[in-house]
Amino acid sequence: TKQKLWGGRFTGKTDPLMHAFNQSLKYDQRMHAADIRGSIAYAKSLTKVGILTKEEEVKITQGLEAVGKEWATGTFEPAPDDEDIHTANERRLSELIGPLGGKLHTGRSRNDQVATDMRLWLLGEVKEVEAGLRDLIRVMVERADKEKDYIMPGYTHLQRGQPIRWSHLLLSHAFSFSADLERLQQLIPRISVLPLGSGALAGNPFCVDREFLAKELGFQSVAENSLWGVGDRDFIIEFLLWASLTTTHMSRMAEDLIIYSTAEFGFITLSDAYSTGSSMMPQKKNPDSLELLRGKSGRVFGNAAGFLMTYKGLPSTYNKDLQEDKEPLFDAVDTVSACFRIAEGVVGTLEVHPEKMRKALTMDVLATDLADYLVRKGIPFRETHHISGRAVALAEARQCQLNELSLQDYKTLCDKFGDDIHQVFDFEASVERRQAIGGTSRIMIDRQVSVLRAALEK
Ligand code: ARG
Repeated sequence: TKQKLWGGRFTGKTDPLMHAFNQSLKYDQRMHAADIRGSIAYAKSLTKVGILTKEEEVKITQGLEAVGKEWATGTFEPAPDDEDIHTANERRLSELIGPLGGKLHTGRSRNDQVATDMRLWLLGEVKEVEAGLRDLIRVMVERADKEKDYIMPGYTHLQRGQPIRWSHLLLSHAFSFSADLERLQQLIPRISVLPLGSGALAGNPFCVDREFLAKELGFQSVAENSLWGVGDRDFIIEFLLWASLTTTHMSRMAEDLIIYSTAEFGFITLSDAYSTGSSMMPQKKNPDSLELLRGKSGRVFGNAAGFLMTYKGLPSTYNKDLQEDKEPLFDAVDTVSACFRIAEGVVGTLEVHPEKMRKALTMDVLATDLADYLVRKGIPFRETHHISGRAVALAEARQCQLNELSLQDYKTLCDKFGDDIHQVFDFEASVERRQAIGGTSRIMIDRQVSVLRAALEK
């Protein structure tokens, strides 16, 4: 007769609703490979301390590999009483190799097992996530390198501010993502701490070699405190908060691109591949890809906030509340990976309209340069700011551009204005003056490109 793994002390049956409520197999089965790997390593460690003979270890390992193969080929058949991936795998192992399967869990608890599986699984996923992030940054950097000639208005408060190179804007977002890449890499040592061998809470009584286990499973270190080992989920919180930040960067970039793709701006056109139409308005081409990229940040932060709330106030060590770590983490991993792939496609295929950017460049965005011109003639900036402001007001009153005021007009505002004033009204010259590190001049764009390329090499 089938019974639950832990059924010994029970006489009553589990309520069917409770059974379903408790069951995590439908989502934690995606950790099947990590669970098998952890068990194979654990079997080895049991042999080393004489709990298993070499022969038994081989049988268990072969059994576990067979179970793993069933998962990989989609033939694993869950039994109604399987609670989670750990009980499912153990149940199946014993079906395949008999009572010997029951030796595997010696000194182990699902508490150290699940924490190990989660870390192992996440370490694998982080590599995928990182690859997606790198590809996105690469596309942005290559695009920026090619499109340095395009000059557009840079905005503050969404009001035209100063001319910038389009590449400068693109790279500003790439720098956010590059910091995310660095942050993601910094999470790895804290994910890579091995709980296995912590037992249920107090530690392993059979003296398994945990450093050996860490080496077998590719962990960088061993959890030094068993209570911490089974109860810590900080690595999940950290990943969720990381994912919240990077999708927030995604959202901000998407917002820029949505605005630039409106007919009113017209700086860019999204490729058809990443746009959708309207069911009613035949003319519409909507930037759904970007809107979803913007929207997903809310979902990811929801996962972070939700699990942090679950985590808060838990007593030490394992509590079943911790099973609630899985769905938010899995969802965040999936969402963030999809976002990187979609953003890479969107940014890689959008069309840029430099002539529209050029048309948006009104002379008033050179008002700072006008003030700077007088600074170079020795006048304090606070005064030149004021004089330039009066020139702007005058042009506004005359409904003309700054370069359409006469030299005489300028001379009445300040006698330091001279024939060379025409040099100010040149957008290219304006961006090229920004030669300090971080500026929008061509060489500083080149510098940014090489800094980011170097970061991608790491
Ligand atoms: N499915 C559980 C989880 O995801 C595994 C650990 C269960 N441990 C226990 N003592 N009930 O957290």
